[in-house]
Amino acid sequence: MKGKDLLSICDLTAEDIGGLIADAAEMKARGTALSALDGKILALVFEKPSLRTRVSFEVAMRQLGGQAIYLSPAEVGLGQRESVADVARVLSGFVSAIAARTFSHGTLETLASYSEVPVINALSDLEHPCQALGDLLTMFEKKGEVQGLTIAYVGDGNNVAHSLLLAATLCGANFRIASPPGYEVNEKILNVALNYARESGVEILCTEEPHIAVSDADVVYTDVWTSMGQEAEAEVRRQVFAKYQVNGALLCLAKEDAIVMHPLPAHRGEEITDEVMECLQSVVFDQAENRMHAQKALLLRLLGASGKPVKRR
Ligand code: CP
Ligand code: NVA
Repeated sequence: MKGKDLLSICDLTAEDIGGLIADAAEMKARGTALSALDGKILALVFEKPSLRTRVSFEVAMRQLGGQAIYLSPAEVGLGQRESVADVARVLSGFVSAIAARTFSHGTLETLASYSEVPVINALSDLEHPCQALGDLLTMFEKKGEVQGLTIAYVGDGNNVAHSLLLAATLCGANFRIASPPGYEVNEKILNVALNYARESGVEILCTEEPHIAVSDADVVYTDVWTSMGQEAEAEVRRQVFAKYQVNGALLCLAKEDAIVMHPLPAHRGEEITDEVMECLQSVVFDQAENRMHAQKALLLRLLGASGKPVKRR
C-alpha cells in the first residue's frame, strides 16, 4: 500500500489489488477464523446509513479476532459537535483503525491527515474503494480473471463509478460508461484512469448511449440514480436517467454469459428491473457478500499480518 490509509483506489497499486483479491479468495475458500487481529479495534464513523458496509466490517473484524465499534452520525457529529481534526486525534488514542462514511471526501482527507491510525473510506461523495475491491473479487470469481474483461457501467458517474473505473483500468480491464450529459464521471478521476489505461493497454469509452456501452460487454454494472445526500434531486434524476435502465432488452446486447452487478441497495424499477435483478446472470448477492471477504484482506494488510508497519497503537 502506498500509505497508511485507503481513501481512494489511487492509494493502491495494481499489485496491491491483485494481492488483496488473491488473499480474499483464499480466505473465502478456506473458511477458517483467524486471530490475526486479536486486540485490534476498528471504529466505524458513519454520517450516512449503511447495511452492507457496516455489517461486513463488523463481521470481518470479529472473524479476524478483533472488534468494531459503530458510531452513528448523531453520536459523533463530525465537524459539528467537534472538529474533524479533533475527532481524528481522539479516536487515534483509542482504536487501531477508522472506517468512515462521509458526505464530503474532504472530511475523510482531514480525518486521515490528523489520524495516527489508518483511515478507510467507507464511501464518500467521490469514491467507494471498498466496493470496487469486492467488485473485482466478484469478477475474478465469476470470470476467472479481471484482466481483459470489458465492464459496462450504465448510469450516474458517481462515487461507485469512480472507484470502479480506477480499479478496472489499473487492473487491465476495459471500461465503458454510459451517462446522461451533466452526470458524467469527474474529469480529474477520468484523467487518472486514462493514464492507468494507457499503462495497462486498455480502453475507456464514455458515451451517452447505454446500448453502445453494453454491446458485447462481459460485465453490466449499474448503481442508483440518486445517491445518498442527493434526495432533493430524485425527481429530476428519475427523468434524466429514464433511458439508462438496465432491463432485459439492454442486457441482451451484452455477451451471452455477461454478469450483472449492482452495489446495492437497488431501486428496482428505476436503474434496474426486477427481472434483471433476479435473472441467472445477476451476481448481486455474491457481490454483496464479497465486500466482507475483500475487507478482511484489506484489514489484514492495514492492521496486521501481511502489511508494511505503520504508526499505530
Ligand atoms: N454497497 C454499499 O455500500 O451498501 P451500504 O450502503 O448498505 O453499506
Ligand atoms: N452511489 C450510492 C452508493 C451506495 C452504496 C450512494 O452514494 O448512495
